[in-house]
Amino acid sequence: MFENVPMAPPDSILGITEAFNKDTNPRKINLSVGVYKDESGKTPILACVKAAEKKLLETEGSKSYLPIDGMPQYDKLVQEMIFAPQSPLLTAGRVATSQTPSGTAAVRVAADYLHKLFPKATVWMSDPTWPNHPQIFAAAGVATKSYPYFDKVTNGLAFEKMLAALGQIPGGDVVLLHGCCHNPSGIDPTAEQWQAIARVLAQRGVLPLVDFAYQGFGLGLQEDAAGVRALAAQCPEMLVATSYSKNFGLYSERVGSLSVVAATSQAAQAAQSQIKAVIRANYSNPPAHGGAIVATILADPALKAQWEQELAAMRNRILGMRKSFVQTLKAKGVQADFSFIARQTGMFSFSGLSKDQVERLKKEFSIYIVGNGRINVAGMTPGNMDALCTAIAAVL
Ligand code: LMR
Repeated sequence: MFENVPMAPPDSILGITEAFNKDTNPRKINLSVGVYKDESGKTPILACVKAAEKKLLETEGSKSYLPIDGMPQYDKLVQEMIFAPQSPLLTAGRVATSQTPSGTAAVRVAADYLHKLFPKATVWMSDPTWPNHPQIFAAAGVATKSYPYFDKVTNGLAFEKMLAALGQIPGGDVVLLHGCCHNPSGIDPTAEQWQAIARVLAQRGVLPLVDFAYQGFGLGLQEDAAGVRALAAQCPEMLVATSYSKNFGLYSERVGSLSVVAATSQAAQAAQSQIKAVIRANYSNPPAHGGAIVATILADPALKAQWEQELAAMRNRILGMRKSFVQTLKAKGVQADFSFIARQTGMFSFSGLSKDQVERLKKEFSIYIVGNGRINVAGMTPGNMDALCTAIAAVL
């Protein structure tokens, strides 16, 4: 049966790291996958995570299965982080949350749920979006279309075009939005623009599905939630997928969540029962360790304060690298205006480099970035900045 199985193409993001690992050039630089690195080029384990793990080692009493939708304490703390502790949504019981193996599983569970309950719904994605989004919906059998998002001329948000397109989407369809730190463009709507987006979706009866993988990596934990909270205030129903890979540095622990918001507590419980059925047939129930770390940190005021400090340090280091990248390119004699890179938020910069230039960076300089020109700014360090900008100046 397997003799004639064709080779699948490498993944457009994770496949680059596979190629990077095979490269023998000692000066190689990997700025493809969205993983944070510190000044020395290491992906650190946060001190608050180590402290939580020590606590868990002493207190953990069982490795029995978690419930299908994960630890209730984790789900509650996550809801408070997304919607704010005093949110009327939470007091009214309109939100039900499942702990999931990170954001990818959360989006996949959402896709399976939509396919099962609303098989005619199309999911509308931003152009561009994270390359795994279309793959996930295709795997779940969900139809997808796209709406304009990025304006190549201004290197900003194509807001008018986006809003006009959203205003044409039929009620009962789904719009996938990036909660903050849009991947790959690094361009987010402002708080006012989020209000306008929420208004249009509410008017049309379109369901928002928010992929919220970078809370705290853009402007701050509360600021980055402006979009989700604007949608939650205006739209009676929505789905929110989160990931704690980046903001807690828990990449390999696979920890995230899927929240369903419904108009009533009863409707939220019914939706949650369907989501649990989807999870049971997929991975049964989530792994415990990552969720236990997040819950331990969020429930302990001292650990939480420490986490917020460590998160701010990561965010500020990325901002510093953005500025340094723009300045170093200029110092290398690059004429093109890259100042927009300092205005983008989150891990990524949409550099505008062409496919050929990306290929030359790899072949001639062993510098690996994603084919669409996305550079992981969180992987830049004072140690690799000069080599990186020299190479970019050469291919430009
Ligand atoms: C990325 O876009 O690089 C990250 O979200 C990691 C991934 O799984 O692709």
